[in-house]
Amino acid sequence: MTDLKSTYMGLSLKNPIIVGANPMVTKLDNLKKFEDAGAAAVVYKTLFEEQINLESIQLQSELTEYDERGAEMVHIHPHLEHAGSAEHLFNITKAKEALEIPLIASLNCIYPETWIEYAVELAQTGVDGLELNFFATPKDLQTDAGTIEDKRAAILKEIKKVVHIPVSVKLSSFYTNPLNMVGKLSEAGADAFVLFNRLFEPEIDINTQSHVAKLELSAEGDYKMSLRYIGMLYDNINASLCANSGIYEGADVIKLLLAGADAVEVVSTIYKHKPVQITKMLNDISEWMEKNNYAYINEFRGKLARVNTKDPFVYKRAQYIDLILRSEELLKGTTV
Ligand SMILES: Cc1cc2nc3c(=O)[nH]c(=O)nc-3n(C[C@H](O)[C@H](O)[C@H](O)COP(=O)(O)O)c2cc1C
Repeated sequence: MTDLKSTYMGLSLKNPIIVGANPMVTKLDNLKKFEDAGAAAVVYKTLFEEQINLESIQLQSELTEYDERGAEMVHIHPHLEHAGSAEHLFNITKAKEALEIPLIASLNCIYPETWIEYAVELAQTGVDGLELNFFATPKDLQTDAGTIEDKRAAILKEIKKVVHIPVSVKLSSFYTNPLNMVGKLSEAGADAFVLFNRLFEPEIDINTQSHVAKLELSAEGDYKMSLRYIGMLYDNINASLCANSGIYEGADVIKLLLAGADAVEVVSTIYKHKPVQITKMLNDISEWMEKNNYAYINEFRGKLARVNTKDPFVYKRAQYIDLILRSEELLKGTTV
């Protein structure tokens, strides 16, 4: 018998597979499907500051269009200016009620005060944890990386003062030294790191000569950047590690656990293979553990992390150079 239990950001999980933030979670039916398939936790889709503002603007224009009705609504709801997040918060409350497994809320804001205000509101819904989605695109050539990073760490520190549930940070890999950023945020109080977010990129349609919004899923195998950094962070910081991006199979989860992950977040594989994929992944992990005589995840978690590997160069530049120098031999059979 295998026991897949894991602890992630202080939460006890029945296994390491978490459904990452995505719009499927807004349907209670889907949440039940994820839970029935064996998911250990769910991250609710992100509350974005733009979404709050947009809803408030829409509401205001509706109110001026129907002045009388607007006056009545203001009377009934004196805090109408905050109505933008109300629907999201209400839906999270419903999701929390529907689930037995932990639910984690996700937030992405622009201004420090909004980060703090909505972190508190999300925590008040009764969610088990909060994931800060620190994705933002650089806007100018002047602001240096350190300034942006320090602002993020300050926001996290403030949130940790007012929120009494575990807080994780979901990062992109686009830092000159992601390890340093993780270190800074760990000092600021992060309980966990989700490495790494997959960013939505702009695209251009050459036929219409216009920008197009294209939502693409990850490709299988896109987890290697996570594997590298989790392997280097394991046993080096006082926070949980969650791998994300391109995790499709049970074998991928095993690799990330061997590197040192406490959990993984999956989205694309569910879009492609339906929630039953979670069951399949869990079965594959159990089967592999049985074959290798492991009863618990902790018996092999981090076994191939940098601190535990005999090959000191495996996570370093030397390995990269070695691969380049041996590329002819490694790619033998590939013709051009
Ligand atoms: C349709 C869609 C919507 C997503 N929405 C969110 C979101 O609201 N917040 C967030 O942090 N990530 C969001 N993501 C990113 C996923 O949570 C995840 O980080 C990313 O897809 C990489 O994981 P995967 O390879 O398992 O898909 C979304 C992804 C997809 C495909």
